[in-house]
Amino acid sequence: MKAAQTRLLDRYVRRAVEQSVFGRGRNEYFCRYKVEVAGKSLPVLTTLDKGRYGVIVFESLAKYANMDKWNRELLDKYCREYSVGIVAFATPNEETLVGAQLKGFPIFMHTNLKLKDATLNPASPVLRLTRAGETAWGTLPGDHWTVFRANSSTYEPVAWALKHNDYTASDERSLQTTVVQDHGRLDGVQRVLFGSGLQFWLHRLLLLDALSYLSHGQLSLSLERWILVDIDDIFVGERGTRLHEEDVAALLASQAALQRLVPGFRFNLGFSAKYYRHGTALENRGDDALLHNRDQFTWFCHMWNHQQPHLYSNVTQLEQEMMLNKQFAIEHGIPTNSCYSVSPHHSGVYPVHEPLYLAWRRVWDVQVTSTEEYPHLRPARLRRGFRHQGVMVLPRQTCGLFTHTLLLERYPGGRQRLDRSIQGGELFQTVINNPINIFMTHMSNYGNDRLALYTFESVVKFLRCWTNVRLGSAPPLRLAEKYFQMRPDELNPLWGNPCDDIRHRRIWAKNKRCDTLPKLLVIGPQKTGSTALYTFLSMHPALVANLPNPTTYEELQFFNNNNYLKGLDWYLNFFPEGLANSSQITFEKSATYFDGDLVPRRAHALLPNAKIITILISPSKRAYSWYQHIRSHGDPVANNYTFHTIITANDSAPKPLRDLRNRCLNPGKYSHHLERWLLEYSPHQLHILDGGQLRSEPALVMSTLQKFLKLTPHLDYNKLLKYDPKKGFFCQAMSNEKTKCLGKSKGRNYPPMEERSSKFLKKYYTPHNTALSKLLVRLGRPAPQWLRDDLSTAR
Ligand code: A3P
Repeated sequence: MKAAQTRLLDRYVRRAVEQSVFGRGRNEYFCRYKVEVAGKSLPVLTTLDKGRYGVIVFESLAKYANMDKWNRELLDKYCREYSVGIVAFATPNEETLVGAQLKGFPIFMHTNLKLKDATLNPASPVLRLTRAGETAWGTLPGDHWTVFRANSSTYEPVAWALKHNDYTASDERSLQTTVVQDHGRLDGVQRVLFGSGLQFWLHRLLLLDALSYLSHGQLSLSLERWILVDIDDIFVGERGTRLHEEDVAALLASQAALQRLVPGFRFNLGFSAKYYRHGTALENRGDDALLHNRDQFTWFCHMWNHQQPHLYSNVTQLEQEMMLNKQFAIEHGIPTNSCYSVSPHHSGVYPVHEPLYLAWRRVWDVQVTSTEEYPHLRPARLRRGFRHQGVMVLPRQTCGLFTHTLLLERYPGGRQRLDRSIQGGELFQTVINNPINIFMTHMSNYGNDRLALYTFESVVKFLRCWTNVRLGSAPPLRLAEKYFQMRPDELNPLWGNPCDDIRHRRIWAKNKRCDTLPKLLVIGPQKTGSTALYTFLSMHPALVANLPNPTTYEELQFFNNNNYLKGLDWYLNFFPEGLANSSQITFEKSATYFDGDLVPRRAHALLPNAKIITILISPSKRAYSWYQHIRSHGDPVANNYTFHTIITANDSAPKPLRDLRNRCLNPGKYSHHLERWLLEYSPHQLHILDGGQLRSEPALVMSTLQKFLKLTPHLDYNKLLKYDPKKGFFCQAMSNEKTKCLGKSKGRNYPPMEERSSKFLKKYYTPHNTALSKLLVRLGRPAPQWLRDDLSTAR
């Protein structure tokens, strides 16, 4: 193998695999995966005697077969020892091979073929999710298929097809093996080889099965699939497009048919009662038929007048509207206990409109909703759920039906497009890839051509024909509970900036602004001079600090604790709306951000372009200052133990002591935390400030900082700050020769650190300081004096 060409996944396969199999990006959903573009040597296959990969997928069968001997032996050994299988895809060849042997394997290939009529081997042990259904009639996508022929019993066909121009009755001899399983009887390595990529829908299923089979079930999706079909606007629709009595009868008949294939299935009707009986006389009878059959369906409230909730700034108004809808439900015997609701046009769900959540809870006891918008409409595979104010928000899937899709022959892209989506295409794959599917449809999809009935019945039949998935349906509350049992990691939201998505901007209250969000974060860590820096920055006319938070002293601490769960509005309230001019930016300082586990990811999700400032002092000094700080705040553990006892506590010490030790020492592992920030932010957004210099030469530090932030005017802080001998620190220079210093809690008086503690900490922090030193070299930043001192005295 030419080393430079070696890749374990090519771009095409990788994208398809990422989209169709892994569904949700790295580390999420189906399984964790790693894309390697291998160099001369293989990627590291084991760590601490554990295999790192359950299955290895090769972009190119040829490249796999042509690997150099050394690497091949290594890989085979790994596969045998850890019982790991290999998947490989034949890619189009420049030259056409006829009966050429695959290098190193007793199997022969014909390449560059056009094929048709795919079938599966019902006896193949690889099939799990995939069911050997009917023949997938017609030409298979692509003109460059490879087929396999072998005499060895180690090979067993998984799928066959016919040559495109083969008009003979298909007997065994004319069947061409397009996917083959190698049982590993010759060399102990199991493989599944594909004669083409994933553009053929059946291969996407077979890949899932190959992964499951070759990983001995470790990389398997459950076979359960839940489906809920919402009809959001059951009374909303233009005259002439609404349901007639016969449509309601068809709806019921289709529901009964679906119930046989999807146990528990009922159409879930959302109503905006203001539009009840707003059609022609025939259509009004349709509305009445719906109500007459109300017990056959499940129901949920929409909005009384189908108005978008974000347009209501006040919760009382929203409640009044909802009450009208509720009144209607009570009068007409519509059940009101589904605890589910959907908002018109997803408005108010995400980005969150707090009054909607409040009114929903109060009027309808809403505990579940769904949206296509979190975190964004596209890519659909990355949609997730979250919980806010007691409401579980489920991701919704798109089924390709919209208010304007009334007639099959006028379906955008033609009927073929819809059929493709159903028959192995987008809609089919959506159900395969999502354990819980909530589809949104509209009344008009059930009148006219009854497109929705055709779509759902067809896709369910297709799923039943080609897969072994177990379809079911349940009320939304049960689905939500199931969803978050499967994905507990999604419960906590990740707030994004509504202005970064044009769709979100449209469904966000007009009076809310994103430009007041901070463009600068001072992240600490604690006790490094962060308050002094915050004060100095606040003196600059181009910088506007956040308003103080009365409950957490001056810091907002949004990204690292429960304030985050209060939502974006809570955060936004701390940033003044009327900035004096467009060059002003807001900023915020919370010194606990630096070492907060969740902070970099959360901060980046909301403020991807922000500048980040961190201040570093000697970690030993920082730890000691922190100890003094919490002692003076009356922390009982700190008051009971000496500094030395805390920092030297071992793992058998009482938990409160260990916890305190960790809180005291962990923030000082600077390189570790900076690396976490650098996973989210690029180095040019991160400014690392020397806390020692901030203390001794604040004007110089502020000058550099102004350049980094490109602030105008460039202030001379020599004129703004003055050393106060009594305080022992630089303070704000006031007009009358006086100074305004930070309070008593900043620049405290306490005895110097004991020598033994100082020695202990120097040693303790040496590996971290060394790593910091290397990190600074990598970033091209100078090492601060304290770091050089700490490292030299530690030797
Ligand atoms: P000590 O009180 O231990 O001396 P923070 O604001 O991040 O909590 O940091 C407090 C530390 O800021 C103080 O720790 C002090 O050493 C340092 N500091 C740096 N410049 C300062 C200044 N101009 N005024 C007061 N404290 C300052």
